[in-house]
Amino acid sequence: MGVPVLHRLALNESPYPPLPSVRRAMRRAVAQAHRYPQFHPDDLTERIAAWCRVCPGSVAVGSGSVGVALQALQAVVEPGDTMVHAWRTFDAYPLLAGMAGARPVPVPLSPDGHQDLGALLAAVDHRTRVVVVCNPHNPTGSLIAADALRAFLRRVPRHVTVLLDEAYVEFARAADPPDLPAFLGAHPNVLVLRTFSKAYGLAALRVGYGLGTPDLVERIRRQQLPFGINAVATAAVEASLRAGGELRRRVDTVVTERERLRQELGGLGWRVGPGHANSVWLAAPDPVDEGAAVLTEAGVLTRHYPGEGLRITVGTRKANDTVLTALAGPVARRFRQARVPVSGCSVHTVLPSRE
Ligand SMILES: Cc1ncc(COP(=O)(O)O)c(C=O)c1O
Repeated sequence: MGVPVLHRLALNESPYPPLPSVRRAMRRAVAQAHRYPQFHPDDLTERIAAWCRVCPGSVAVGSGSVGVALQALQAVVEPGDTMVHAWRTFDAYPLLAGMAGARPVPVPLSPDGHQDLGALLAAVDHRTRVVVVCNPHNPTGSLIAADALRAFLRRVPRHVTVLLDEAYVEFARAADPPDLPAFLGAHPNVLVLRTFSKAYGLAALRVGYGLGTPDLVERIRRQQLPFGINAVATAAVEASLRAGGELRRRVDTVVTERERLRQELGGLGWRVGPGHANSVWLAAPDPVDEGAAVLTEAGVLTRHYPGEGLRITVGTRKANDTVLTALAGPVARRFRQARVPVSGCSVHTVLPSRE
């Protein structure tokens, strides 16, 4: 028998279960489960639009942001088209491209874990219909600075749809969040993807949304499954939006814990990646394989990319303490011995946090 799993830190989920008010709303919806949800999720769409301060025509709701991404690909891709994306990225993207009939074109990340915007642009040609950019990125957590993103978007040809995946935006603490209506108006080929799975902690319920110009959104909605958003999920999202303050405090706690993990892992000798999502990223040549092994032994599930990296979702304080204890063990000690100390006793180097 293997080691029992104590902490699930592999899928960038929220460590917190739904709030009591959200659970109450779900229970009420369960009692009405013999009724269909709306044919098109118009009420939820309007609610999200009001919350994002955009017009309802700018919002497409789907089965998680993955569902909206698939609808977008199905809306714009023709056979023989390509989809350019960084690699690594969120694993679903190459699969979604295949489902929609597009050929994925992977572009390596830069050595410090950032999406290489210049190389992504260089990979765009007449067959490219879609470019995916994640901000913050998965798995490295890197963030694209607002001016670099705007410059990139200006250079993407208009016939190419940009899927700007902001699944982790709430954890990013961007200095200057864009005015959404102005941003969408300036970039009519961009679909911003967001989700209730991460900061809002509703991963099991599968609700995400896309924000774009009404023309683009209209095409994406045509790919939406009738009755496709279930009523319990809708009730949970609406209740979560009403509990925005409480949920923001949970996000604050995750961000505080993320920074503690970064700091303390750095102190143990790990080079910690940029980290603007709800995770931290450790990369080779640090001993990530041994790190994954000691964490498994300690009952902690993480996302391990053998020989390449280790993505650890920020958990509860207790889970994070377990991570720190495990990674302070023999691996880190051996690793520290091999490292040349800089500035007194500090041995860690934090990679640049912005592009
Ligand atoms: C970058 C990114 N986008 C999207 C998702 C999935 O989001 P959803 O649950 O809304 O489909 C993930 C999940 O890990 C992710 O990392």
